[in-house]
Amino acid sequence: MKEQIKQIGQEALNEIASSGANKDSLEALRVKYLGRKGIVTGLFKKLAELPSADRPEIGGLINALKNDVTRALDEKLFLTARDEDAKDHIDVTLPGVSRGPGRAHPIMQTIDQICDVFISLGFKIVEGPEIETEHYNFEALNIPLEHPSRDAFDTFYLRSSQKHLLRSHTSPVQARFMEKNKPPFSIIVPGRVYRPDATDASHSFMFHQVEGLVVGAAIKFSDLKGVLEIFAKRLFGRSTRMRFRPSFFPFTEPSAEVDISCILCAGSGKHNIGSEIHRCSLCGGKGWLEILGAGMVNPKVFKNVGYDPGKVTGFAFGMGVERIAILKYGISDIRLFFENDVRFLRQF
Ligand code: DAH
Repeated sequence: MKEQIKQIGQEALNEIASSGANKDSLEALRVKYLGRKGIVTGLFKKLAELPSADRPEIGGLINALKNDVTRALDEKLFLTARDEDAKDHIDVTLPGVSRGPGRAHPIMQTIDQICDVFISLGFKIVEGPEIETEHYNFEALNIPLEHPSRDAFDTFYLRSSQKHLLRSHTSPVQARFMEKNKPPFSIIVPGRVYRPDATDASHSFMFHQVEGLVVGAAIKFSDLKGVLEIFAKRLFGRSTRMRFRPSFFPFTEPSAEVDISCILCAGSGKHNIGSEIHRCSLCGGKGWLEILGAGMVNPKVFKNVGYDPGKVTGFAFGMGVERIAILKYGISDIRLFFENDVRFLRQF
């Protein structure tokens, strides 16, 4: 019988320890062992059948067993009740989860910096749709269907329509604005553009541009140069120099590609590291960085929107915001802007 008591004790304690922590399963175990028909109660009944000499010792063992099982059940019940209680209560003394203040994305900050310069020169901000028609994205800007320059712009067409596409530049807003407004005006157009480029360190199928357009009675090429020079110095620093290279865009005539003196080597194209001379890694030794395209508005564009090219002239320019930010902050990969990694974003 001693063996039996010991074994029941072990089983009972194991069962209590491994039972689910809820009141019902603990009550079931209490009934199983300590109830009126329970196993421990059954042992007390058997005590009467034993020779009287053995009863005190065995009786003591059964009593100890009963106490052990009772204590184990009480302890488990206490812990279970405490856990359930904790679920319903909030500890207001715990420290909160801190969320630092948010901030504008580096691309939005760069757009703001660019626009601020032009706003200070009297420009107004205008926006246009990202879903465009072929007419505004191409034809109105003197980019005819067969024109080779259309390839580079060829873009995402919407499935529902042959004529609707995601704009490949912000230039279509030039035509949209001119159709509805009379010169003189100076506008700046920030926005997203789309191109079917495979993504890599320097390409993204979506990026941002800022477009500029100034139209009036006697707007000159020198006005374009003056405005862009102020822009370059304000954004990249006073000592920045600027140059125009002849180029081609269907919507401007003449057209130019605009460079600034390299912000890393100050235009020298090289770095002295100790006694060694290294080619500048940012401009590749050229001393210049291309930042935008520009030109005098093509008279054909004026005609397309109903202006008289004999009466008005104007200039336009367009820049990639990511490129400006990459140069300004020394960023090595355009994808960093779109991956939403806070370790990157937090630095701006
Ligand atoms: N739309 C051109 C592009 O996406 C950029 C551009 C060049 C805009 C010259 C202009 C301009 O307004 O005059 O590559």
